[in-house]
Amino acid sequence: MRAPSPLDLPRRPRRNRKAEWTRRLVRETRLSTDDLIWPVFLHAGEAPTETIASMPGVLRYSVKAAVEAAREAKALGIPALALFPNTPGHLRDERGTEALNPDNLICRALRAIKDAVPEIGLIGDIALDPYTSHGHDGVLKDGRILNDESVAILVEQSLVQAAAGADILGPSDMMDGRIGAIRAALDAEGREECSIMAYSAKYASCHYGPFRDAVGSSSTLSGDKKTYQMDFANAAEALIEAELDIAEGADMIMVKPGMPYLDILYRLKSTLAVPTYIYQVSGEYAMIMAAAERGMIDAEKAMVETLSAFKRAGADGILTYFAPRMARHLADHG
Ligand code: PBG
Repeated sequence: MRAPSPLDLPRRPRRNRKAEWTRRLVRETRLSTDDLIWPVFLHAGEAPTETIASMPGVLRYSVKAAVEAAREAKALGIPALALFPNTPGHLRDERGTEALNPDNLICRALRAIKDAVPEIGLIGDIALDPYTSHGHDGVLKDGRILNDESVAILVEQSLVQAAAGADILGPSDMMDGRIGAIRAALDAEGREECSIMAYSAKYASCHYGPFRDAVGSSSTLSGDKKTYQMDFANAAEALIEAELDIAEGADMIMVKPGMPYLDILYRLKSTLAVPTYIYQVSGEYAMIMAAAERGMIDAEKAMVETLSAFKRAGADGILTYFAPRMARHLADHG
């Protein structure tokens, strides 16, 4: 009989999990308020806030109320807000002209928040869907989205929002070549400090429905966005998109949606040396809240678990409608 080898000893991974104190000691990743970006919807009316039927707990804010939301975010330790306007219907047209109005809703909010709460980072949304009568992110002609014509408008939109006070521009449109064109135009105007967070791997997803309600584009959207947003069957293509965006000057990249795309986040973060964000989108939020309303899931636990999963998969930060709630949770529980 040979002597027992240490290799014969039963391995017992459960020892590290035997109590909360040891689970804390071995915990590999940790969420903090530094990881949170709060997407905030804007409306042009007088009422401070409006509710959004498909997103329980999420509001649209007037410009004035958005300033208060920014103060709240600052108090909670949230580093940045991402602003999305619900443009009044009569201002929407075929080419999204209102996007270039220096006094449009998002520009008014950018200026007001920068003025009152300069410490908060502000991310401006670059895309035409909140401004077009057809709900697409670019110019639609004979049933096609025209790439280069759209990019020319997105460049102008970027300059307008940078002038209004956006610290970061978030092109969410998925047109080819827009990052390079926007970067060149910003630099030419002396705005080399304005950053770009590219929505690099943005998939044509069914999870954006509630967002389209929130910005008022769901009733107007004609067709789908499959000729510009990515096919959810593809992963290698996400690397191409992200590499192009980085080469064109993106400071940060993003994967969107979140939970069904953790593999994409992991792949990009493991391959590319650039800050990488993930967007837990409106449909993901709505699924958790709807299940919670029916008593099928605990929303607070689902929030903590899903956001922690993004961190574990490599996210440097998360855009989430849970941002203020998660920040409060962290303040209460650490
Ligand atoms: C469009 C845009 C969308 C979202 C952010 N920017 C929707 C779309 O592509 O139709 C979705 C965000 C969410 O669902 O929370 N530029």
